[in-house]
Amino acid sequence: MRHLLSAGDLTRDEALLVLDTAAELAQVSGRSVKKLPTLRGRTVVNLFYEDSTRTRTSFELAAKRLSADVVNFSAKGSSVSKGESLKDTALTLQAMGADGVVVRHSASGAAHRLAEWVDGSVLNAGDGTHEHPTQALLDVYTMRERLGRLDGLRVAIVGDVLHSRVARSNVLLLHTLGAEVTLVAPPTLVPVSVHTWPCSVSYDLDAVLPKSDVVMLLRVQAERMHDAFFPTAREYSRRYGLDGERFARMQDDAIVMHPGPMVRGMEISAEVADSARSTVNEQVANGVSVRMAVLYLLLGGS
Ligand code: CP
Repeated sequence: MRHLLSAGDLTRDEALLVLDTAAELAQVSGRSVKKLPTLRGRTVVNLFYEDSTRTRTSFELAAKRLSADVVNFSAKGSSVSKGESLKDTALTLQAMGADGVVVRHSASGAAHRLAEWVDGSVLNAGDGTHEHPTQALLDVYTMRERLGRLDGLRVAIVGDVLHSRVARSNVLLLHTLGAEVTLVAPPTLVPVSVHTWPCSVSYDLDAVLPKSDVVMLLRVQAERMHDAFFPTAREYSRRYGLDGERFARMQDDAIVMHPGPMVRGMEISAEVADSARSTVNEQVANGVSVRMAVLYLLLGGS
């Protein structure tokens, strides 16, 4: 495999190879010297056209822990403001010797287009409302680490599915790995094409909660909403938010996940987000190991 553009491109064996490699590489993060020479002499460009805290910093850390040279490119403050296109920006960075390009862009399909233009590997770090494959990989890694299995796991993905690239990538990858996914959202926040996704759909969180091993909340993406998708934030929270009272009705060993950034008080209450069964911070830590694994597998060859 040369690029990582979609979680749906991964076979079961390829996905498990990423997870197993990440588990090996996680040991590096526990050492006093957190560095391997694997990607010495290689250059990774982080090409971010959209804001990011977790994905950008963890890709940077991952590449540095593998001894790659890292260039952080942000559209803000670059010649993009003078009208330079994605293609010309990418070709400029390639001319400087980029072996791998990690790209986040507001346009769905941007990573696929980039892969047609550059010689190196392209890693999709989130394209519009389409996909975020490394988020799904770190999420399934966290589920396997916490619960010990993926096969037959019942996963509820709750909230703004319509605007979520995390939801699509997770549905595709979890299906490949044998989990059963239920999307839970108001009808207005479910994509019309959802019948083509390998999952079921419910509008009733209270019915799905007691049957779930994993409850993954999605951020309500106000910046992508150009319409009224629900009456009020309070009404959304009442029907689809995970508060302490709902949390108490989950199975005793079920976990709560969120890709971040969280809107506390909207899709998740502070007491749930900070509980011992919330994996939010583990997901971030695992993101470094998973992104090290992906960089190692894509760029580590001769
Ligand atoms: N989960 C995630 O993609 O977070 P960032 O937008 O901070 O990278």
